[in-house]
This record gives sequence, structure tokens and C-alpha cells, in this order.
Amino acid sequence: MNATFTRFDHSQADDWQEIDAHFRDYREGVVERVIAHLLRLEGDTHGYPVDRYTHCLQTATRAERAGADEETVVCALLHDIGDDLAPDNHAEIAAAILEPFVDPLNLWMIRHHELFQGYHYRHFYGLDRHARDDYRDHPAYARTVRFCDEWDQTSFDPDYDTLTLAHFRPALERVLGRPPFDGAGLPEVRDE
Ligand SMILES: [Fe+2]
Repeated sequence: MNATFTRFDHSQADDWQEIDAHFRDYREGVVERVIAHLLRLEGDTHGYPVDRYTHCLQTATRAERAGADEETVVCALLHDIGDDLAPDNHAEIAAAILEPFVDPLNLWMIRHHELFQGYHYRHFYGLDRHARDDYRDHPAYARTVRFCDEWDQTSFDPDYDTLTLAHFRPALERVLGRPPFDGAGLPEVRDE
């Protein structure tokens, strides 16, 4: 059943109860949709040695093998998921997906990884490779440098023993299955 209003200012509580039930079902499927989107990165390498799907898996594999915690591994898995939808601003897509579920420092790391990764190529474009040093005093600086230097920029190796998506799926389900926004939970519709 759908809500009966045609504009929000005519809506009633029972409309929102109906919509809320749909929403709760829909958000349960977010892992499937995130995986479907990761799979869209498979195929075209855009000139790189591996496609972005492999790159994401490999970055997560390196993070896990280095002993990173599960949340950080999931951040690594999703960090470039926005490459096809926002090629000029891709980090924001991963940040938006992860924001309700991860530590603010990990969120900052994902949001800024593009600039930090640039240490390894910006000079080839005549840009300042040290631009990330402007953030040297930020509490997430060290983890973002590590993420890029040890796991992200190294993960373009077609011969690396990269773990499969199936390996990471349980971790993805656990992190995206957390109560959003530090346990604040979803508001309930009130019948008044
Ligand atoms: Fe990357």
C-alpha cells in the first residue's frame, strides 16, 4: 500500500507509518546495492594495470593483512566506489555511504584520501605533491598517510594475491549493519 497524499503538507501519521515500513525494508538491502555498485567497477581499467574493482579488493586485502581493524578494512573496500559516478569528486561518495557507521577519523581519512594519494602523482601534473602536509596536525593525518602509502597506492598489481569480495562481505554487512550515527537509531513515527 502506498501513502495517499500528493504533497507532504497533506500527509498524515499513517502515511508516514506506511512509508517508514518501506524505508526500513529498503535500507536492509543496502549491502546488496553497495555490492552491485562495486561490481560496476569491474572491467574497464581506464589505463591502469587493474580495474577499480580489483583495486578496491586489493586495498582492503593489504589493509587486512597489515592488521587493520574491520572498520578500516571496509573503508578500504569502498574507498573508490564513487569513481564512476563522481570522477572529479569520488571520495565524497564513499564518505557518504560510510558516514553513519564509522569513526569520524576514518570518515576524514576516506574524504581526504584523494589529496593524500596525490603525494604519489601530483608532481607529474605540475602540482604540489606535498599539499597533504597542510593537514599534518590533523588527528587523522597519520592514518590517512598510511592508508594511501601502504595500501591504496600499492594496490594496482594484477599479480597480487587479492582476496575475493565474498571474503569481505561479512565485514561489510557488520559495519553497514551498525545502528547509524553512533547508535542514535531511526526515529519512530508518532501517531499524533
Ligand atoms: Fe584507491
